[in-house]
Amino acid sequence: MMRWLGGVALGCVVFAGAYWLAMPGKSVAQLDPIETLSGTLDESLSPTRPLPAPVNLPAARVALGEQLFKDVRLSADGQLACVSCHPLERGGADGQRVSTGINGAQGTINAPTVFNAAFNFVQFWDGRAGSLAEQAAGPIHNPVELGSSWADVIARLSADEALVRAFRNAYPDGALNAKNIADAIASYERSLITVDSPFDRFLQGDKAALSELEQEGYRRFRELGCISCHQGVLFGGNMFQKFGVMGDYFARRPLSKADLGRYNVTGRDEDRHVFKVPSLRNVALTAPYFHDGSAATLEDAIPVMGRYQLGRELSPQDIKAISAFLHTLTGKPPGGVQP
Ligand code: HEC
Ligand code: HEC
Repeated sequence: MMRWLGGVALGCVVFAGAYWLAMPGKSVAQLDPIETLSGTLDESLSPTRPLPAPVNLPAARVALGEQLFKDVRLSADGQLACVSCHPLERGGADGQRVSTGINGAQGTINAPTVFNAAFNFVQFWDGRAGSLAEQAAGPIHNPVELGSSWADVIARLSADEALVRAFRNAYPDGALNAKNIADAIASYERSLITVDSPFDRFLQGDKAALSELEQEGYRRFRELGCISCHQGVLFGGNMFQKFGVMGDYFARRPLSKADLGRYNVTGRDEDRHVFKVPSLRNVALTAPYFHDGSAATLEDAIPVMGRYQLGRELSPQDIKAISAFLHTLTGKPPGGVQP
């Protein structure tokens, strides 16, 4: 049984440790100009907003995208679809350390959730896709994911008359082509927003939506400085940061190519081990954690963040409270998905 439960909020941060590689959001100073923690929860000071419900999505394209998201004809062996690795009833991620692609091929990196991905400033751990439509081409061509090509996918789908008609209805040019396939999938993904988490209800004034422990967790999340990276409406997804700001996270094991992160995209030395800061929305549902899937539980992941991102050893009470807070970021999936 999945816990599509909910959320928290508070006000205060004193943090200036990490450095900022890219920060389209607010600076730390802007987040909390003055220390405000006084035992009351003042949301006027919170940089966080509830997730907005999607509006005005083109219904025909969303429906077509949903169909394609579940269509195994996108894979070379007809066995896998997007949904195989992003099952909606388990938080939009596959729950494996790294994904398994066609013919049982072992992937190289942990699958993030598709829920709320529409709000990410870029897609993939290393940010190599600038939009959801651009992202969709990735798994189709990836030999350890769907292992196919646009030409093959279009040929297979074009044999399906009902599908050809659906494209004709959904797009002005009526074409069943790569651009419209990617657009339909992206349209569908824009509908996958998990609104109404306990945290969001708390932000909207329902002060009973969070327990004392959950509120304490949110306060510590801000005081310790987690919020300086995991910020904005997604608690993440709006900047790149190095994994290992305060220590060498990778020293304990052999490096993989995936560990190089954004360096694989830019080739710049300063981008080694730099990743998109992941969203923490629904994070309680998407274990295991980190790009390498190395943390099995939130209680494992939180102290790693304390040590390598903040240079702090977190107390058992902080870990417990922050974990309780992170559980409140679980929202409700759009209609039709049964937890
Ligand atoms: C074999 C498993 C697999 C399949 C099939 C698959 N994905 Fe993924 N998906 C992944 C993995 C692994 C990543 C992370 C890859 C990376 O960051 O380098 C990912 C990343 C993503 C992201 C980026 C999320 C973020 O937070 O950056 C989106 C969006 C996404 N996939 C959507 C799709 C769509 C749409 C399809 C079908 C066209 C699809 N996936 C098929 C495993 C899969
Ligand atoms: C300096 C920026 C920074 C700070 C500060 C920071 N994080 Fe992170 N966080 C990241 C990055 C980058 C990743 C992705 C690391 C990876 O897997 O490569 C991450 C990953 C995570 C994940 C795993 C998410 C997933 O889906 O795999 C959790 C949970 C998390 N952070 C919680 C926290 C908590 C709690 C704190 C405060 C104790 C914190 N973070 C502080 C940058 C930061």
